[in-house]
Amino acid sequence: MTRTTARIAHLRAAGVSFAVELGDPLPRVLHWGADLGELGEGELAALSLTADGAVLNSSTDAPRRFTVWPTEADGWSGTPAHEGHRGGFGTTPRPRLTGADLDADALVLHLDDDVSGLTLTVAYRLDAAGVLGVTTTLARPAAAPDDGVPYDLAAVTTLLPVPGRATEILDFTGKWCRERVPQRSTLLHGGHVRAVRRGRPGHESPHLLTLGVPGFGFRTGEVWGLHVAWSGNQRWLAERLPEGAGVDGAVLGGGELLAPGEIRLAPGESYTTPECLFVWSDEGLDGLADRFHDRLRARGGHPATPRPLTLNTWEAVYFDHRLERLLDLADRAAEVGVERLVLDDGWFAGRRDDTAGLGDWTVDEAVWPDGLGPLVERVHGHGMQFGLWVEPEMVNLDSAMAREHPDWILGPSRGLGPSMRHQYAVNLANEDAWNHLLKALDAVVARYRVDYLKWDYNRDLLEAVHRGADGRDRPGVHAQTEALYRLLDALRERHPGLEIESCSSGGGRVDLGILARTDRVWPSDCNDPVERQAIQRWTAQLLPPELIGTHVGGPVAHTTGRATDASFRLATALFGHAGIEDDLTARDAEEIARLGRWAELYKEKRALLHTGRTVRADLPDEALLLNGVVARDGSEALYSYARVETSADGQPGRVRLPGLDPSGSYRVSIREEVGLPVLHQVAGPAWFAAALQGRVDLPGTVLATTGIPLPNLAPGQALLLDVARVR
Ligand code: GLA
Repeated sequence: MTRTTARIAHLRAAGVSFAVELGDPLPRVLHWGADLGELGEGELAALSLTADGAVLNSSTDAPRRFTVWPTEADGWSGTPAHEGHRGGFGTTPRPRLTGADLDADALVLHLDDDVSGLTLTVAYRLDAAGVLGVTTTLARPAAAPDDGVPYDLAAVTTLLPVPGRATEILDFTGKWCRERVPQRSTLLHGGHVRAVRRGRPGHESPHLLTLGVPGFGFRTGEVWGLHVAWSGNQRWLAERLPEGAGVDGAVLGGGELLAPGEIRLAPGESYTTPECLFVWSDEGLDGLADRFHDRLRARGGHPATPRPLTLNTWEAVYFDHRLERLLDLADRAAEVGVERLVLDDGWFAGRRDDTAGLGDWTVDEAVWPDGLGPLVERVHGHGMQFGLWVEPEMVNLDSAMAREHPDWILGPSRGLGPSMRHQYAVNLANEDAWNHLLKALDAVVARYRVDYLKWDYNRDLLEAVHRGADGRDRPGVHAQTEALYRLLDALRERHPGLEIESCSSGGGRVDLGILARTDRVWPSDCNDPVERQAIQRWTAQLLPPELIGTHVGGPVAHTTGRATDASFRLATALFGHAGIEDDLTARDAEEIARLGRWAELYKEKRALLHTGRTVRADLPDEALLLNGVVARDGSEALYSYARVETSADGQPGRVRLPGLDPSGSYRVSIREEVGLPVLHQVAGPAWFAAALQGRVDLPGTVLATTGIPLPNLAPGQALLLDVARVR
C-alpha cells in the first residue's frame, strides 16, 4: 500500500512503514519501522513537523537533518553516502532532488550533483515480506563534456537511520568450520565497521548486522537489520554520533568495499551498488528471519520441488575415486533412500590431491578410463539425480590451464602472491578465460546430464589485480564478482533445470547476491552436530531451511575428532536440505536401517520443514537449543530440543514451545525414528513419559504460554517433538 502527498511518500507492506519526505534540496526518511497505518494529511504533516531536532550548542545553526544522501553539505559528520573525486577535485558532493517516481512498492529518487558531475538514482523497494531493498546507480551523463578526467568513486554507502532506543548490536564472525558465530555489544559513539577484503563474504561474514533495543532475543524486542547482498568485498557499519542522525540515534549502512581506482567513471559510465536489504521487526530475530524467508520463498526461482535427500561423496571417499567403491556407495545410498548423489572433488584431470588439476574440467582418464558414464548410469538407474563438484573460479599452477594460459591468473605483474590451498583465482574478467570456463562447464553438464553442481570457492582473493599489457595492474574484485554472476547466469540459461550450491570452504560465501543465482548453500565443512546446531540456527537467520545443506556425518566428525551419537547427528541434519556425508559401505545393517528410517522421516516432514516458519526459543541456558518449524497455517510443528554440553542447572524447568497458538489444542508425540536421546535423570517428566507411550494432548496455553518441563538430556543429545493441532 502506498500513499503520497506532494511532499511525503509512504510505502507500507507486511507491518512495515517507510516514509520519505521529498524535501528540497534532499529527501529525508521520516520513518522506517512499524506500520503507521493509512496516514491523512494532518498526520503526515505532523510527521514532518516532528522530524527536526533541537539546534545544539556548538553545532550547525539549523537543526541537523539526516538526508537520503547524507554528506557534509547537510551537516552530517558521519560516514558519507559517497566519496570520490575528479583528479583531486569535486570532493564535497552536494546533490539535490530533481524528481521522484512512486508506485505501489517502490520509490525512486533522482538526484543531480553538480560538484561530482554525477546523477544519482536511489531506488527503494519494499517487498511483500516487508524487506526494504535499496540500490543506487551513480552515472556520469553521456552528454557531459569529457575533459579526460574520470570520476574516481571511492565509496558508496547505503545508509538508513535507526531510532536512539536501538543501542545493542549483533553481528557475526567465524572461521573455517565455525561459521556465523554471533557477537553482541553495546553500540557506543563511533563506528562498528566490518570491512571484508577477501573477495568473498568469508567465514567471518557479518551475515546480518542488527541493532535492537537492549535485551532483544529470538522472540522479543524491536530490531533493525541490514544484509549486503553481494559476494565480493564489502563494508557494513553501524554508527552513532553524539548528535545522532537527525532525530534518530544511529545509522545502519553498507555497500561494496571498493579499492582505490577500482571504479573510474568516464562520461556515459555508471556504477550500481549491491542491493542493501533492510529489515525491521518488533518480534525479535525470528521476526527478521521470517521476513527474509518470506522474501526468498516468493522468488520466481526458489526451489519448488521436494529437496532431494543427498549423498555427497567427499567425507566418504575423499580423492579415492575407484569406480567399484563409488558404485557400492551408490547402491548403499539407494538402499537408504537417497535421491541425489554428488560426486565431490577428485574426478577431473590430474586431481589426485588438492595440489593439482583445478582449471582442467575434463574427466581424468587415468582414474575414470570409461569416463563418469558408468557411475552416472548406476546413479540414474537407481532413480537418483547426479551432482558434480566444481571450482571454476580457481586454478592450480600444476594444471594445463595454468601452463597454457598463465595470463589468465588473477594477480600482480610483479609475481603471484601467496597461494591458498595451493591455488589461485582465474581472472574471470578475461573474456577468453570466461568463455573457456563456460564451454567446459556446459560440456560436462550436458554430457553427464548433471542435475546439480556443488560450486566451490576455496580461497580468499589477495592482490586481485588485472595485469595490464603495459605492466600496470588495476584492481579486479568488482569485475571478478560481476563476471562470476554472469558465468552462473549464462550456465543456468543453458541448463534451466540445473541446481547449483554455493560452497566456499564450507560456508564462506553465504550471501543473497550469490543466492539470486544458486539454489542452496553449504553452511560449513563441519558436520559435528555440536557445532552444527549453532551454525545452522544462525545461518537460518537469513536463509530458510530448504536452502541450507544439512548432512549427517560419520560417528567421529572428521573436522573436530569428536564422537557423537547417531540420534544426535540425524536429528540435527533433519532441519535443512538433508543429506549424508559418510561412507555408507562402512556402516552395519542396524546403522543402515536407522538411516533409512531417518530418510523416511525427512521425506515425511520436508513439506513442513521447507515451507513453515522457523522458530527459536530464548533459553537462559546456552547449553540448550530449542528450534522448530511451525506450519504457516499452524496445523503442525516439529521441534528439536538439543543439549550441546552439560550445565550447572539441574533441569530446564518449564519451557515454552515457540510459534504455537495459545488458544489451540495440540497432540504431542516423540519421534523415535532416529533413536531416543540419552537422558541424564531418573524418570519423567510425567507428560514426557505419557508421550513416549504414544502421544499426549496439551492445550496451547500450556505449550505456548506456561511452557512444559523438558526432560534433562545428557550432553550431545537431541529430542524430536512432533506437534499436531487437534483444535
Ligand atoms: C571444500 C568444500 C568441501 C569439499 C572440498 C573438496 O573444502 O567445502 O565440502 O568439497 O572442498 O576439496
